[in-house]
Amino acid sequence: MWRDKYCAEIKEDDIGKEIRLCGWVFRRRDHGGLIFIDLRDRTGIIQVVFSPEISEEMHKKAHSLRSEYVIAVKGTLKRRPEGTENPEIITGNIELWVKEFEILSTSKPLPFQLDEKTEVSEILRLKYRYLDLRREEMQRNFQLRHRITMAVRNFLDSKGFIEIETPMLTKSTPEGARDFLVPSRLNPGTFYALPQSPQLFKQILMISGFDRYFQIVRCFRDEDLRADRQPEFTQIDLEMSFVKPDHIIEIVEEMLFKCFKEVLGISIEIPFKRLTYEEAFNKYGSDKPDLRFGLEIQDISEVVKNSHFKVFVDIIERGGVVKAICGKGLASLSRGEIDKLVALAQSFGAKGLAWIKVKNGFESPIVKFFSEGILREISERVGVEEGDMILFVADTNSIACEVLGKLRLEIAERVAIKNEGFYFAWIVDFPLFEWDQDEKRFVSMHHPFTSPKDDDLEKLLNMPEEAFKDPYSNVKDLKAKAYDIVLNGYEIGGGSIRIHNAEIQEQIFKILGISEQEIKKRFGFFVEALKYGTPPHGGIALGLDRLVMIMTGADSLRDVIAFPKTQKAFCPLSEAPTEVDLKQLKDLHIKLDI
Ligand code: AMO
Ligand code: AMP
Repeated sequence: MWRDKYCAEIKEDDIGKEIRLCGWVFRRRDHGGLIFIDLRDRTGIIQVVFSPEISEEMHKKAHSLRSEYVIAVKGTLKRRPEGTENPEIITGNIELWVKEFEILSTSKPLPFQLDEKTEVSEILRLKYRYLDLRREEMQRNFQLRHRITMAVRNFLDSKGFIEIETPMLTKSTPEGARDFLVPSRLNPGTFYALPQSPQLFKQILMISGFDRYFQIVRCFRDEDLRADRQPEFTQIDLEMSFVKPDHIIEIVEEMLFKCFKEVLGISIEIPFKRLTYEEAFNKYGSDKPDLRFGLEIQDISEVVKNSHFKVFVDIIERGGVVKAICGKGLASLSRGEIDKLVALAQSFGAKGLAWIKVKNGFESPIVKFFSEGILREISERVGVEEGDMILFVADTNSIACEVLGKLRLEIAERVAIKNEGFYFAWIVDFPLFEWDQDEKRFVSMHHPFTSPKDDDLEKLLNMPEEAFKDPYSNVKDLKAKAYDIVLNGYEIGGGSIRIHNAEIQEQIFKILGISEQEIKKRFGFFVEALKYGTPPHGGIALGLDRLVMIMTGADSLRDVIAFPKTQKAFCPLSEAPTEVDLKQLKDLHIKLDI
């Protein structure tokens, strides 16, 4: 063994003992004949001291040490002299006086410092990811990620779930994104798809009688990337037989309770709040509301319909709504800043943004159109106080909510009113379908294996095909047995009860405009499987990366995935994706056309 202990595990009890340590040279300081090194390993740092009085030779050799050299040291642990303690680190009261040491490996000068909070460009961090990962914050993130994963595994095991792996070289599963394709050498002209999720396989495992499945599994989606979206990411994927939505919801709540308790020592409140999709959308303009703050959207159509403000009255008369939120602390905005806010609302899709400042009374060019009584009523509903601003959008309900929902997030960001902590909610009663403007037809809101609510099944099966091509038809009112879980404004999971009947499943595909031929080609194997005794079943998948990001307080998934990709799905470390040899392409029977 090179060492007796990890650096930060050394305690004052060890004073006087001879100890061997190894690690990286973090910082070096020369002080009047003594050389001090902060020696670092994954647990933290400890100060080691080289003195010519202990060893002339070692002291001389220590002059050659540079940042990130790897060394092994042996010495005596001492208490630091009074006044030289460092309360910032756990080992701040002790230091190791070196008798002997060995340089195990040297390091080139670093492209960026590991100890400072200086802004290092992300590309540079990712190119030298091995250095970036040495930083304390990153070490902490990955230790936490490991503990979360272990807590989840142990919990699911204790509940009788068994972990089963499903293929990576597989067939497309429609989760709404583009597939990553892998050409097959042995079957020229054909392709595997990397799984967007194990959806069909986990359902087949229920048909196989495993009853409770889970997998901590990599999924692949070729979509536009953002801070909370990576092309490959990890799901905590589970599926259960003979269950109703509440069973799955309870298991997930218990799992997250255990996880937060074990990993962060926090007791989160369960059961979580439940909001219907409609409520969430109307109050927060989003199906993943951030509940760390209020600023709920209010419908004030009834209040303003009798005002003299023509913009509002006209829109209400045409079947629209007027909605408003509290612009917390925004009464101090200048005219120019307000113009920017209006432009922002327009970029979100609003036709305009009306505003009234609450500042020694009401202040706005539109105040004159409202009576004192109406202004007071609006203020009360929206919950504004002196120093705030009322922001209004008049439009269709969906545009008004969407725009104000985005402004709500923007305001909370500006005035920092988010509570600390973890604000969970279930979003339930999702629509079964949503309108796809590009394709001009309804598509599944989750995926086509989602069961409709019992009451809506009959309605669905009796609906004429044309209804699916009309955005105003009743199709939009059909509800799914689906649930999403939301934490601090992020969707951290989604699932549903599935259709377990082959005829209904085929019917849904047809309704979605997938031809019989196509059904056979894409999902034939699955529909066939449904015909051999399928138990009622359902499940959920949680985005592990997103959960870890929130639990660690990171801003981006890139801080909790060891080797992530950039916005352009590029890996600066390995430089993937790269061109390949012509010979490889030839083996795959592929000709490039670029
Ligand atoms: P869904 O598509 O909602 O459901 O995915 C489940 C969860 O995975 C996370 N997630 C992502 N995380 C990072 N980067 C991405 N690109 C990304 N895409 C999704 C989200 C999301 O809530 N098969 C269904 C689950 C089921 O029905 O059981 C599914 O995959 O946190
Ligand atoms: P206008 O009569 O178009 O000059 O608008 C008067 C005020 O109402 C301006 O402050 C506009 O930004 C605002 N406004 C216009 N249309 C809307 C709308 N649909 N919702 C909210 N405010 C609007």
